[in-house]
Amino acid sequence: MKVVILKDAAEVAQYGAQIFIDQINAKANSVLGLATGSTPVALYKELIEANKSGKVSFKDVSSFNLDEYLGLEGTHPQSYRYFMNEQLFDHVDIDKANTQVPPGNDANPIEACKKYEADIVAQGGIDVQLLGIGRNGHIGFNEPSSSLASRTRVKTLTKETIDDNARFFSEGEYQPELSITMGIGTILESKKVVLLATGENKAEAIKQTVEGAISASCPASALQFHQDVVVIVDEAAASQLDDPEFFKYIESQNQALLAKLK
Ligand code: F6R
Repeated sequence: MKVVILKDAAEVAQYGAQIFIDQINAKANSVLGLATGSTPVALYKELIEANKSGKVSFKDVSSFNLDEYLGLEGTHPQSYRYFMNEQLFDHVDIDKANTQVPPGNDANPIEACKKYEADIVAQGGIDVQLLGIGRNGHIGFNEPSSSLASRTRVKTLTKETIDDNARFFSEGEYQPELSITMGIGTILESKKVVLLATGENKAEAIKQTVEGAISASCPASALQFHQDVVVIVDEAAASQLDDPEFFKYIESQNQALLAKLK
């Protein structure tokens, strides 16, 4: 697992965005896996800037989001479809018809999950998947105890995740307790995975992800099985790693090698 430790959240966003920009510039019709939550917002801002300044075009890009609340229409301000439109799609030259978010309002969510999986395969699979991480190590809405081979399915959220996400809902507003999420098995099939984490409250989850045993108690630890994962963290999120200096040393060596190859 490649671990990149940077000064702060702004550097994390820039580093992560550059991976997406390079991916799209290498393959114009890239299939992106996207995430919601607070962490990727700054990365999306970087992508919007890059699009506006002509450094990247999303014209032929397609995308699949990780998850969606069950029971919310895409027009609901707390839905992840709404979030994606607001934070990225409305501001870049992507064709919205090519953007997919799991359908939270489908009459038959079980069939909708199967179709979502089939649609990813039909598109040729995800080239690069963006992930945030929950304090409990969840990726997508794959909460602890999720099967490490799970596929897109309906998932019950833990009390911790509901409480963490309550900040997005106003008082008294209906907050769903169920979601549709890509499974861990689905995520592991992406060709590349980019996981972002910032802040002290993610430090324990990052430690378990990078150095812990592979276990359903920390769903993100399953990424240790993937051959191309980049974990991009700020100093605070890296603060519980046994030897952060080692990861910094490796990254400086990687950068030196890349500079030589240029
Ligand atoms: C959202 C998602 C979640 C979040 C995680 C962290 O699509 O997949 O796993 O990435 O809950 O959320 P933030 O970034 O708000 O801390």
